[in-house]
Parts: sequence; C-alpha cells; structure tokens
Amino acid sequence: MRKKITVVGAGFVGATTAQRLAERNYADIVLADVTEFVAEGKALDLLEAGPILGYDVNVSGVTIKDGVGYDKIANSDLVVMTAGIARKPGMSRDDLILTNMKIVGGWAEQIAKHAPNAIVIVVTNPVDAMTQLMWHVTKFPQHRVIGQAGVLDSARFRTFVALELGVSVQNVDAYVLGAHGDQMVPLPRYTTVAGVPITELLPKEKIDALVKRTRDGGAEVVNLLKTGSAFYAPSAAVVEMVDAIFFDKKKILPCIAYLEGEYGINGVYAGVPVRLGTQGIEAIVKFNLNAEELAALQKSGEAVRALNKVMGI
Ligand code: 2OP
Repeated sequence: MRKKITVVGAGFVGATTAQRLAERNYADIVLADVTEFVAEGKALDLLEAGPILGYDVNVSGVTIKDGVGYDKIANSDLVVMTAGIARKPGMSRDDLILTNMKIVGGWAEQIAKHAPNAIVIVVTNPVDAMTQLMWHVTKFPQHRVIGQAGVLDSARFRTFVALELGVSVQNVDAYVLGAHGDQMVPLPRYTTVAGVPITELLPKEKIDALVKRTRDGGAEVVNLLKTGSAFYAPSAAVVEMVDAIFFDKKKILPCIAYLEGEYGINGVYAGVPVRLGTQGIEAIVKFNLNAEELAALQKSGEAVRALNKVMGI
C-alpha cells in the first residue's frame, strides 16, 4: 500500500511541501486547512499537474470546520505540521507562541486520535517549543516527533559559504544546531568545503558575518517579502527529512530531537544531529563539541525550557 502523508496547513509552506512531496511520487497526500476550500483547491490544482509532471499519487484536500474533517487524516504514516500564523516584520518567532500553541495543541490531539502511528515533523514556529508541545500532547514516543529547523538553517549556512568562496553548494557541508532563532548554533568547525573546515579557509570576522546572516536568515526573507516568511527552502528541508525516513536512509541531519542527557541537556527538545530512518529518529549523534559550542547548545535547551514554561508544559 502506498504511504499516506498529511500536510497540515495549506499556506505557502504547507502547499509547497505538498507539491514537493507529490512530485516525489511515493505517497498519497492530504492537505488540511481551516480556511474554507483552500486545501481542496490547492490539492486539486496539484492533482491536475500530475499528468504533466508524471506523478500519479492521489492528492486531496480537506477543510476542517466545526471539528469536522479530521477523519480524512486517518492512518497517515507521516504528518507535517505547518499550520499557524507566520511572522511579520519585527516579530520574533517567540512572539508567535501563544497563538500557535493553540493551533498545534489542538491538532496534536487529533493526530493522536486519527493517526496514532504517524511520525510527525513539526515546522510551525517557534518550532523548538511547538515540537515539544506536539510530543507532550500526542504522547507519541519521542523518536516519532521531530522538529525541522537544522536542515533549513544548515542549507542557509551552506548557501552563504558557497557564495563567499565561489564554490558549488554541493561542496559545502554544514551543521547548524541549537534553537531556530537567536540561540541558533552554527558550527564553523564542522562546516567544510570539499572536506576542509571553513576555519582554515576564511578569517574569523568573515565567518562571524556568515554565522550572523544564517542566524538572521529567516528574518532576512521576512523583511524582503513583508507579508510572509520563507517557504521554498523550509519545504525542501522537510522533504529531505521525509526522504530519509521513507527510504530508511539512516541519514545524519540536524533536527529538533528530545534529549535525555545528551549534550548535557535533559527533558527538552533541541536541535542536534540525529540519524533518520524508518523509525524516525534512530539515534542522537554525538559531535565532539568544545566548551564554547557546548555552552551555546545548552543555552538553546534553556531557551526552549523557558518557552515550555510559558506554555505551561
Ligand atoms: C524561517 O526561518 C520563518 O522560521 C522561518 O524562514
């Protein structure tokens, strides 16, 4: 039987994720939204692109209204959570918390009920806290609740390094850990160009500037768009994670994972390298961090803990 993926939220991130996943042609897609018929409309449009692009999975949409419609997500193998309000210029990701916690918390209950075996990838911001909330409410095993941030942040870092050095992005590997926001922890020592760490290729001031641009990467796009936030790169990041899971790649990617003492962080979600495979998070990968990197990562964990307090979990 073909796999089934539900994408919650038919905004730019959700719809683009649905598009990228449909084009992968390995799972039927359900797109769900609360705004009447937007999900149905975008799903139909995506379905009608299939004959041209050569995919033949089913793509359908559902409007969730007055508590009705949730049954359409039944038995999804994977759910991508994108619903929530997006950032406006000047707003931090954390400003979103009180609104988005209601949306994500409500969905978490429905996912637990209708798709109890699903792996959930959370994208809604503030994503570290929303991932923790999703886990808390669904009560799913922690390896099945994963947050997307590090793949996106690392892609941004890779882009900026490649631009700076005039090389292909494919030669650049990067790992950005920590929280998705001001507490982000880009790791220049683990960022390489054809195997050579950028600490051997660029002066410190230049690396600091690239790190800052990465940390501000979401805001840079928000400030340009004015009325929304990034969606091409975030959706691409989700699809890399879904590929790793469905193809059991055992791929090491930076993801938001529940930590139980790893990196000296306990009882909260934070961005760390993990091995992704058919079970979801199959292992937390240990990097040999220096004292400064470790302290920065632990600060991220504390920032998430503070947001959990705000949410009362
Ligand atoms: C981003 O980094 C808004 O968090 C989103 O683009």
